[in-house]
Amino acid sequence: MDTAGQRVPAVKWNLLTLLRLATVVIILKVTAEIVAGYVDYLPPDFNSEFLRGRKAYFFGSYQWAFYPHLLFGPWTLLAGLLLVSDKFRSRFPRWHSWLGRIQVASVLLVILPSGFWMALHAQGDVFVKLGFSLLSIVTGATAFMGWRLAVKRQFAAHRNWMWRNYVLLGSAVVTRIVGGAFFVCGIDGDWTYTFSAWASWLTPLLIYEVIRALRTPATRSTISNTPATAKLWQ
Ligand code: HEM
Repeated sequence: MDTAGQRVPAVKWNLLTLLRLATVVIILKVTAEIVAGYVDYLPPDFNSEFLRGRKAYFFGSYQWAFYPHLLFGPWTLLAGLLLVSDKFRSRFPRWHSWLGRIQVASVLLVILPSGFWMALHAQGDVFVKLGFSLLSIVTGATAFMGWRLAVKRQFAAHRNWMWRNYVLLGSAVVTRIVGGAFFVCGIDGDWTYTFSAWASWLTPLLIYEVIRALRTPATRSTISNTPATAKLWQ
């Protein structure tokens, strides 16, 4: 039936699909740009923007946090894209399960400790260091929660915590977008980095929580009715 009542959901669906597609494209593009920037780090160029002023401590413990962070950061962003996809999970439950285990290990064993260590050396005031170190702890905590809930086969709650985890990992993309926006608008000042260190993860997290709170039962995931995935965690 071609009624107005039926057209609205169709339009909504298309807009949502477009929004999702745009988000995926932005994540892929920014990740590619981040990786392209690695020419400044291999070998380390201390005249490059990020490494300027870091030579004094770089070859100590910092490098052991820095390079694993550079390797696993993009990996977690790309693997996370597949892991949060409902289609991927229902088509390839075994892949979802194994990729999920690798993702949790990557976050807990690499991103959390390296992010925390680098946060302590961040070139900014104490609030910058605090923002990034808290981000690393919260990101690790969400991965741990998501993993525990999957083991307990509480898949709806598992999904929520893993979405939170991915939103937090996405802060790497948001920081670059915010930094780019400040640059384009000619906004400068020490406060902009402090702002990024907090807003890049608190804002997306808040948006996620608001969307989650506003969801109706009809738009919620049916993950708890996915026995193929559930079996793999038994
Ligand atoms: C959510 C957990 C994460 C935390 C807590 C974290 C923390 C940090 C910190 C503290 C720095 C140094 C900042 C400074 O000294 O000013 C940094 C740099 C960096 N991070 Fe992360 N990070 C996280 C996730 C990611 C992800 C997912 C990527 C993936 C691309 C990534 C890629 C990088 C890169 C490439 C750098 C070096 C600087 C640059 O080239 O822009 N990080 N990160």
